[in-house]
This record gives sequence, C-alpha cells and structure tokens, in this order.
Amino acid sequence: MKTNVLKVLVVFIILVMAAPISLMSRSKHNIRVLVAYYSKTGTTQKMAEQIALLTGGDLLRIEPAVPYPQNMDSLVKRAKTECQNNENIAIKCDDVRVEEYDVIFIGSPIWFSDWAAPAASFARDERLSGRRVIPFMTSGKPEQGEVMDLLYKKYCKTEPERGLCMVDKKVQLDKMSEVTRWLCDILSIKNCGNLTTMNVLACLREMKCRYPKITLCDVYKSFYQDYFGPGHLIESKSQATKYIKEELKIVDKASVGLQTKCNGFWVKKATGTEKCGALGRYVRVDLWKVKCGEINLNDYVKKLTQSVAENVDNDGWVKEWNFILSVIQNYKVPIDNYENDLKLINSRIASGKYGMHHSQVFNQCYHPHYRIIKSNLLK
Ligand SMILES: Cc1cc2nc3c(=O)[nH]c(=O)nc-3n(C[C@H](O)[C@H](O)[C@H](O)COP(=O)(O)O)c2cc1C
Repeated sequence: MKTNVLKVLVVFIILVMAAPISLMSRSKHNIRVLVAYYSKTGTTQKMAEQIALLTGGDLLRIEPAVPYPQNMDSLVKRAKTECQNNENIAIKCDDVRVEEYDVIFIGSPIWFSDWAAPAASFARDERLSGRRVIPFMTSGKPEQGEVMDLLYKKYCKTEPERGLCMVDKKVQLDKMSEVTRWLCDILSIKNCGNLTTMNVLACLREMKCRYPKITLCDVYKSFYQDYFGPGHLIESKSQATKYIKEELKIVDKASVGLQTKCNGFWVKKATGTEKCGALGRYVRVDLWKVKCGEINLNDYVKKLTQSVAENVDNDGWVKEWNFILSVIQNYKVPIDNYENDLKLINSRIASGKYGMHHSQVFNQCYHPHYRIIKSNLLK
C-alpha cells in the first residue's frame, strides 16, 4: 500500500516537473493574453475570436481613426497607398493597456502582400517591445509563410514567432482545428495519448452546457469513468442487480444526456445516454432505459459486468488527469468550486483512492441515476 502511494506521488511530481514552462506558468491568474486584430470583412475577426476563446484572451478590435471608404475602388486606392508608403496611420482602439499583457496576438488581413495599415500601426507601438508578440493573418491566396516572416521582422522588434496565416475560405470552413493545433504548438501544449487539447476543451464545453452547475469533482468523475469504466462499482452480478432494482424504484425520468434547445434555452430533456469524458470509451446509460422497458434488466446488468476493466492502470490515469488539468488551467475554463475540489482530488490521489463521487450540487440539481457501459457493447 505504502509503495503504491509513493509510486503515485513520484509519478505526480515527475509529471508536474516535466511540464513545459509555458504550461506551468499559464495558470489562472498568471498570463494575460490580448488578441488585437483589424478586419475589414470579418475573416480575421473570426480567427481572432477563435484564438481568444481558446486562450481565454481579451479581444481588441483595431480601427483606423479615419474609416475606410465603403466604395471598393476608393478603399483599394487608399489601402494601396498606405502599404506602399509604409504609413503609420492613426488608429482607434479602446484604451488598452498593452503593458498589462504577457502575450499579444496581432491579426491582420493581407493587403498587397503586407499587413493592413491599422494592424501594422498597432504593431509599431513602442509599448510592445520586449513582449511576446504572435502574428496571425488571413489572405486570399495560400502559401503566405514567407510574407508572414518578412512582415514580422518589419513590424515587430522581438524574437520571431511562428504565426499562422490562413486562406479566407478556409477560415470560414475550419472548425478551429488548425488554430487549435497551432496554438498547442506555439504554447507548448502537448497531447496525451488520444486526448488532445481540442477534444478535452470540446468535452468541457459540452459538460458545462449540459450541466451548468458542474464542479471539478464532476469533471474528474466523467473523465475517470471514461478511463476506468464501472470496475470499482461492481462486486458481483447478483449484487449489481439488487442495487439496480432498488434504485429503479425512485427513477421517474432519464437524468443523463440533458439537451439544450437550439436557441440556447435550457430544457430538462434527456436522451438517457451520454459519453463519458472526451473519448467516450464508456457511456453513461440511464436506469430510465430499463424502467421504461427500452433495455432489459438482465441485459443491462450483463453489459455492465462485461464493461468492468481487467487491467487498472492508475499511473496512466494520473497522467491523463494531469493533462486534463493543464488544459483547464491553460485555457482558463471556468469550473465551479475549482480550488476546493482540486485539494480534495489531490488528497485522494495521494492516498491511492482514485474514484470520486458526484458533487452535492450535481446530485441536487441533476439527480443522476446511471451506470457505465463500454461503448462498443451498446452497438
Ligand atoms: C484591399 C485588399 C487587398 C488585398 N490584397 C491581398 C494580397 O495581396 N494577397 C492576398 O492573398 N489577399 C489579398 N486580399 C484578400 C484578403 O487578404 C482576404 O480576403 C482576407 O481574408 C480578408 O480579411 P478580413 O475579412 O478580415 O478583412 C486583399 C483584400 C483587400 C480588400
């Protein structure tokens, strides 16, 4: 037992120490990100919004003090002159204190193989010197890597950073995958097995949408269930049947798989199944499915028993959990009761107890009554 505890502690310490610097320091209150951009027709704005969403950064829209003409010919004429003359134009952006930010993303459409003058003028701001400035651009033509490097050297006086330039059509179609990959790369965020920053973030968003009052313990539980399945709950088939029969008495509707309406209003309508964690190796199947006769009790218990994991790899789980935590911290995902739950989780892990109950709030609000079944048994 003692050896196990020691082993877990050692793995935990090694993982924490091995995390890249940027991961370590980008905790909730440390790193502040500003996403400043100029956009004429909305494409660069879309990219800026994705970056802000994924980094938890503040958005800043840059505008020229004298607006560009609506007429396209006049716009092109002025934009061309500005680019050719390398003009430092007057810009309007809310009174932003750039010195308060550690990382500043600057976004611009490519105009005549250059940055649009409003973004270029913002990049020239003296206060940016010595800060980490990361460019992003959108363009009509692909393959702008060289242009990007040239422009970076031209405007930003800091060490070159790997920016991202995306073709306008791709920005409109992309579901954040390219932006996420690039951000993970430049901010030194790694994947963990099949878990990626993107699927963890997507999963957290879905959880928060289904269960707005979710706390860190509930988040832990969902990912834990996805890793281990129902193993720790099952003593024997007959015991499981007995517990389920007892619980069925109080089940009056499905509790998992809660859906929101398209317009965003919350409705308590549940499908009765939902995947655990980000990978859905296991699925929560509501007892309601048995109560309403959709699944036969014997079949339910059989599948539940078959879902018990044979090998329990606690070290692997600690590694996954630390990755999930790093995503939550890096992207400042707001989760209720974070600090308290984290202390509780850490103390349980340190004492070799990996399972976790749902939070009281979760039980009170959502009355969960489900069991975990391996997803491939449900096909
Ligand atoms: C005045 C002007 C000049 C442009 N020059 C270029 C160019 O030199 N190379 C290019 O690939 N795209 C060029 N484009 C296309 C834009 O870079 C592209 O459509 C961009 O995604 C628009 O971003 P926005 O919607 O944020 O304004 C130009 C567009 C305009 C309006």
